[in-house]
Amino acid sequence: MPNYAQTGGPLLQVTGLCRRYPLGKGRVLHAVSGVSFAVERGEALALVGESGCGKSTLGRLLVALDRPDSGEVCLGGRVISRLSDRALRPLRPRMQMVFQDSLSSFNPRRKVGDALIEPLKIHRRAYDPAFLERLLKQVGLPPDVMDRLPGSFSGGQRQRLNIARALVLEPELLVADEPVSALDVSLQAQIINLLGELRRSLGLACVFISHDLSVVRQMSDRIAVMYLGRIVELGETLAVMEQPSHPYTHALLQAIPRLNRPLPPPLSGDVPSPIDLPAGCPFHTRCPSVQARCAQERPELRTVDGGREVACHYPMNQGVA
Ligand SMILES: Nc1ncnc2c1ncn2[C@@H]1O[C@H](COP(=O)(O)OP(=O)(O)OP(=O)(O)O)[C@@H](O)[C@H]1O
Ligand SMILES: [Mg+2]
Repeated sequence: MPNYAQTGGPLLQVTGLCRRYPLGKGRVLHAVSGVSFAVERGEALALVGESGCGKSTLGRLLVALDRPDSGEVCLGGRVISRLSDRALRPLRPRMQMVFQDSLSSFNPRRKVGDALIEPLKIHRRAYDPAFLERLLKQVGLPPDVMDRLPGSFSGGQRQRLNIARALVLEPELLVADEPVSALDVSLQAQIINLLGELRRSLGLACVFISHDLSVVRQMSDRIAVMYLGRIVELGETLAVMEQPSHPYTHALLQAIPRLNRPLPPPLSGDVPSPIDLPAGCPFHTRCPSVQARCAQERPELRTVDGGREVACHYPMNQGVA
């Protein structure tokens, strides 16, 4: 790893992050609202939630591919969310993003090797063939892939290439947006294992974005559950999955298909529009345990038993060790 200045604090710290999309005629869509959390060096945090809850928007903010309207993102103790593109440039190698595999992420007419070397050229880094060979081996690909065209790879192999390309600059933080959702289940497991090994061997911090809770169980130390642009629950992955505090997390977990268990009825009630958020708790229109207070007062994210953070007036499983 390059020798970055080490500071005592977390690698990534986001505070009060908001991103609104103006839609014209005075209408505003609140994609990310008041999000705060930290990621330690080498830690894996999962961001989960239904489609449209703001995961990708948040992911792009984390690596400064997009800027917040308010709040800040700090990497290694330095505020990056307000830096100009020029000032950001030397910091870009430290944070990389991997997207859902798609053919379009590689130019079909360029050899894979060129695509892998490109980030090194852009950042004026020396090209060390032995390093690239080692990297390809680490992601489970033979060195001869360098001379091939992207079209000759399977989806799983291409995702290995995407990961290799993200790691060429030796980042400290990898944000992976739905990295396995385009793959079939057996390939998903392989890529999940690969990301876990890389994280351990490189000391990489990861933010994994997924709508699939069963995927993040294996991938993350902690899990942040999002609903309509806000974090509603954050805690250790296994603890959250075994004893969710937020009724929304509970509902998401219930919706995972399992052997010997019939699926419960899905949540009733409509998902409110992120343009006209309801007063009170954003989840109250669908919450099975809603009470009068929930429609009036918005619950802030607060720490409850066991260090869990939850934004609910009436969290579940409290008082259980
Ligand atoms: N450029 C944009 N302009 C306007 N609205 C946007 C834009 N990008 C995203 N949105 C809206 O912001 C909200 C959050 O979108 P985002 O893509 O971050 O969600 P997501 O959780 O990643 O969803 P998915 O699971 O489908 O990928 C959605 O309501 C989406 O329609
Ligand atoms: Mg998304």
